[in-house]
Amino acid sequence: MKENKTVLITGSSRGIGKAIAIEFAKAGYNVIVNYNKSEEEANLLVKELEVYGVIAKAIKADVSDFEQAKALIDEALEVSGQVDVLINNSGITKDNMILRMKEEDFDRVIDVNLKGTWNMCKHISGHFLKSRSGKIINITSVVGLIGNAGQSNYVASKAGIIGLTKALAKELGSRNITVNAIAPGFIETEMTRDLPLEMQDAYLKQIPLKRFGKAEDVAQLCLFLASEQANYITGQTISVNGGMV
Ligand SMILES: NC(=O)c1ccc[n+]([C@@H]2O[C@H](COP(=O)([O-])OP(=O)(O)OC[C@H]3O[C@@H](n4cnc5c(N)ncnc54)[C@H](OP(=O)(O)O)[C@@H]3O)[C@@H](O)[C@H]2O)c1
Repeated sequence: MKENKTVLITGSSRGIGKAIAIEFAKAGYNVIVNYNKSEEEANLLVKELEVYGVIAKAIKADVSDFEQAKALIDEALEVSGQVDVLINNSGITKDNMILRMKEEDFDRVIDVNLKGTWNMCKHISGHFLKSRSGKIINITSVVGLIGNAGQSNYVASKAGIIGLTKALAKELGSRNITVNAIAPGFIETEMTRDLPLEMQDAYLKQIPLKRFGKAEDVAQLCLFLASEQANYITGQTISVNGGMV
């Protein structure tokens, strides 16, 4: 697994993460797929990626767990010898108005989305610092920029990711490590599929391009941010939202 560059994508069994995995495999990257529950989907994706002639491996880990996140990085490094790009994409929602939101739903969303991203950044940082190179791409959300009713846990986690991205860009920049965030708008995946139709219509009205985004729209920006063309971009949050914000 040495000649090609390697990308590790958390939460890549489906949705945006899966599209990112396919885009990177098409570009010749070896791909470490991470999943927490969707083992079958992750293994099917590995087979799909191998068709592009790259090496792919699925590794189970709950990124919110400090030790599992470490084991994921360790195993990825064992398999590939080198990780060049880390994409923190895992994310969950547990929406409710604050009056009804349970404490455990606040904690779980913060743990997976924000702490999971921090866990992964922490555990990869030694490797990237030693290599004096590396690219970290954190998936945040448009609502982390503008807020959203009924998502105080999710919005706090996504705004936290933007702050984390800025802090790490300053901390790691002198070693040629870039850290950026992508803020997708409304992207068609399982996460958004079950939203009430009225809510989907309301979102659509706010999108100048008059369509929801595709996972590939996000994946293509990831590929650019991982490339040498993006070597002088760090600490940024780039929106992919059809002009919504
Ligand atoms: N869809 C949108 O409109 C939209 C908009 C803005 C931002 N985003 C962000 O984009 C990212 C991907 O969203 P999506 O729409 O593709 O969601 P999705 O279809 O629900 O997929 C979520 C992924 O995260 C993984 N995951 C969940 N909990 C995990 C954990 N504890 N450890 C490791 N992996 C875990 C899931 O894997 P398992 O099934 O194996 O648990 C799955 O692969 C998320 O961070 C989301 O917040 C999405």
